[in-house]
Amino acid sequence: MIIAVDGPTASGKGTIAKGLARHYQLPHLDTGLLYRAVGRQVRLNGGDPDDPLDAARACEFPDSLLAEPMLRTEAVGALASRVSVHKRVRAALLARQRAFAARPGGAVLDGRDIGTVIAPDAPVKLFVTASLEARAMRRFRESQSRGEDVTLDAIHADLVRRDARDRNRAEAPLVEAADAMVLDNSDLDAAESLAAAIALVERRRGEQA
Ligand code: C5P
Repeated sequence: MIIAVDGPTASGKGTIAKGLARHYQLPHLDTGLLYRAVGRQVRLNGGDPDDPLDAARACEFPDSLLAEPMLRTEAVGALASRVSVHKRVRAALLARQRAFAARPGGAVLDGRDIGTVIAPDAPVKLFVTASLEARAMRRFRESQSRGEDVTLDAIHADLVRRDARDRNRAEAPLVEAADAMVLDNSDLDAAESLAAAIALVERRRGEQA
């Protein structure tokens, strides 16, 4: 079973995807991490994230980069959002994601275009979302726990920018797949969100049986 989990920044889709992978004993790929690695590599190369060639060159990052904790920071997330608009970057990361989705036995992938581009035939698609305020507060708490010096206002403004960039880009924009089940978890904690996600997966599996 392939489970595609898409949604905006800080919607909780990563936590839900991880929980679903554990529940169904499937491998999980956080595709945002690949874009974050490209964003970080552009900086390490001294390149410009808005330049398509610099960004494409950065797709040849070493796998060891994926394990760097700093990939999770707000600063690298913002770089990832900038490099992800380039067609060449998306093309360079496509095969790796598709190969993961095609694993025998299935997989859980989370990102922005899993249900629309990477695995359009996935039998189960979730679109996880939450209000801007809830997402900003979650991201703020995460940043604080990592000791990052960032304000709630700055995070709020960055989310607005990233939502706009992800939704309005020409290549693989963030959009609900027609057959995606929407899960708004603004008022749910992590455990409740996962329970709701499992209930949706089970419903879809029941419909398909
Ligand atoms: O999910 P995460 O916040 O780690 O993603 C970082 C950025 O990478 C996103 O803002 C988005 O622009 C980009 N991304 C993407 N397609 C994906 C996953 C992430 O464009 N499948």
